[in-house]
Amino acid sequence: MIFKKDLPEKTMDKKFRVFATCDIGEAIDVLRKRGYEVEVYPHPEAPPKSLILDKVKSGVDGLITTLRDPIDAEVFEAGKGKLKVVAQIAVGFDNINRADANRYKIPFTHTADVLTEATAEFAFFMMGTLARKMWTAEHLTREHQWGYWHPYLPFLGDEVTGKTVAVIGTGRIGLAFIKKSVGFDMNVLCYDPAYENQAFVRTIQEIHDLRHARGLVKDKAWIKYVPFEEALRGADFVSVHVPLLRAGESATPTYHLFNEKTLSLMKSTAYLVNTSRGPVVDEAALALALRENWIAGAALDVYEQEPLPADSPLRDPAIADRCRLMPHFASAARITRLSTDPDKGMAGRCAQGLIDVLEGNYGGDVTKMPYVVNKEGFGK
Ligand code: GLV
Repeated sequence: MIFKKDLPEKTMDKKFRVFATCDIGEAIDVLRKRGYEVEVYPHPEAPPKSLILDKVKSGVDGLITTLRDPIDAEVFEAGKGKLKVVAQIAVGFDNINRADANRYKIPFTHTADVLTEATAEFAFFMMGTLARKMWTAEHLTREHQWGYWHPYLPFLGDEVTGKTVAVIGTGRIGLAFIKKSVGFDMNVLCYDPAYENQAFVRTIQEIHDLRHARGLVKDKAWIKYVPFEEALRGADFVSVHVPLLRAGESATPTYHLFNEKTLSLMKSTAYLVNTSRGPVVDEAALALALRENWIAGAALDVYEQEPLPADSPLRDPAIADRCRLMPHFASAARITRLSTDPDKGMAGRCAQGLIDVLEGNYGGDVTKMPYVVNKEGFGK
């Protein structure tokens, strides 16, 4: 790792030019100290695509992007012969057209792993906030509506401990979510369209068995993989952790995986939590499900369109007590977002991914670079 203190800073013979579509903090200084010429888009909003095209046409070697930037054939064509890498500060990369990147032979990197725990814990907190009605309860206090202590008025929430959660998608973040659910003695219904991690499930079951055997819990919790419909039917909570895959991108697309049909399978007392990607949930269907009480509530961090439009049906005041809306914030913790250490922070990992490609680390073999996503585009 190049940022470790015992290594001297390397100054490049060649000056690489980089355009960053947003500021990623001190990791930009790390690149500049290595001799890179880095231009940072100065506004917090995403730059227009025309500006990204202009920068790429001007001959930058690398682009630092976020999940808000559409990166496709038009961008790769504009950078033909010059653009060498796209380094995305996010684990998700559905904004980058993978087939186009492969066609133009441009590696792109992402920042998996370093945001796993932050995202999983945020999903867990959203679940608790939603079920225990914390937002509504605080409003009650702030708006001077708290007139008495009463056993069940004006409303009650639902416990999380000992309940059954369906974890939809058992990649890194789904598994981290499950680890956190162990402390709350939750039963887990796992579903993953691509891969079943049975070894992980066995380990979690062993921990549940031990907690029970040692008298820490009265009822032994369980975990198992089940088909999607069974997971939805059996769960008190559903937490979504799948990548966004549109039709044609995968044999098991996830676009609108949650729609009128699948939402109607959930219990009327169940809650939905989505920290994955907005288009995995059909928002019109979800708003209907909430209005008509098909389900008890939903907490969302991601949306079909971001930022959430003013006229979104999810903003309907009639469902405000059971619909929590977060601003795509699950990985937004200090160290997770900004540490320059590639083993800790998205910014550090993003810069390292860029450096690996531009400086030809790993003998210049893209397929060996840990943060490159589209390795398949560079095989023999
Ligand atoms: C956030 O949503 C990410 O993909 O990193």
